[in-house]
Amino acid sequence: MTSPALEVLDVSRRFGGLLAVDQVSFTIAQGGLSALIGPNGAGKTTLFNAITNLFPPSAGEVRFLGESLAGLAGDRIARLGLIRTFQSARVFPGMTVLENALAGACLHVRAHPAAQMLRLPGARAEERKLRGKAEALLDLIGLLAFRDSAATDLPMGAQKNLEVVRALMANPRMLLLDEPAAGLNDSETADLAALLTAIRDTGVTIMVVEHNMSLVMGIADQVIVLDAGKLVAVGSPTEIQANRRVIEAYVGAEG
Ligand SMILES: Nc1ncnc2c1ncn2[C@@H]1O[C@H](COP(=O)(O)OP(=O)(O)OP(=O)(O)O)[C@@H](O)[C@H]1O
Ligand SMILES: [Mg+2]
Repeated sequence: MTSPALEVLDVSRRFGGLLAVDQVSFTIAQGGLSALIGPNGAGKTTLFNAITNLFPPSAGEVRFLGESLAGLAGDRIARLGLIRTFQSARVFPGMTVLENALAGACLHVRAHPAAQMLRLPGARAEERKLRGKAEALLDLIGLLAFRDSAATDLPMGAQKNLEVVRALMANPRMLLLDEPAAGLNDSETADLAALLTAIRDTGVTIMVVEHNMSLVMGIADQVIVLDAGKLVAVGSPTEIQANRRVIEAYVGAEG
């Protein structure tokens, strides 16, 4: 039997007196596209931070492809193939769009740094291959025409999509995306939805925090609902839309 992509087992995260994530458990199958939803302050970003050990769990355990992540540093987790993006876009200033995309691959560049510096044939071939991949992904998301622009000159929505491309350049086995559609206009959102389903179809597992319900319901096969740090529900989009506790969590949040 293949292990799940991600197992979150009784995970809690405390900040002083606040239990931001409270004994949350769920499993994500390999190849799935799960959405993590919940009102503002529900603990969604904190859960991502706990999974990737940016702010490690105060209790509980996270397993990735059957292996415990306890005590592993962020770069080690990334090397295992678990790659995340951040809620506020973080493109590298002083670099072009293409350079930002290529930066995502630096975890995996195989050529020895000296070979890269001397631009030996092996290193050049590797660079060409990565560049080709970056350009294909930029094309998919409508950013190829801006490849040589400064990344920080892009509109915020395009910067967020660029961050997704950079994450993909790291060859993830699983992607954790924190509100990738925030600030995107309708056509950028449609590009993103197409990109995410295309990536899922290549076998990459995806977990996405998202407030845009039509996006979530359109692409997710599993929806995980948090409210005030607690797991409220896990189910298919149809099940979640009909779930009274979910509706109450949202209506309650809106007063
Ligand atoms: N580093 C931190 N230190 C102290 N409290 C924190 C920290 N990070 C998050 N919190 C608190 O934890 C709770 C959950 O926050 P979190 O950012 O995880 O929510 P969220 O579901 O991502 O919300 P949003 O939809 O607004 O992004 C909030 O009350 C927040 O203030
Ligand atoms: Mg958040």
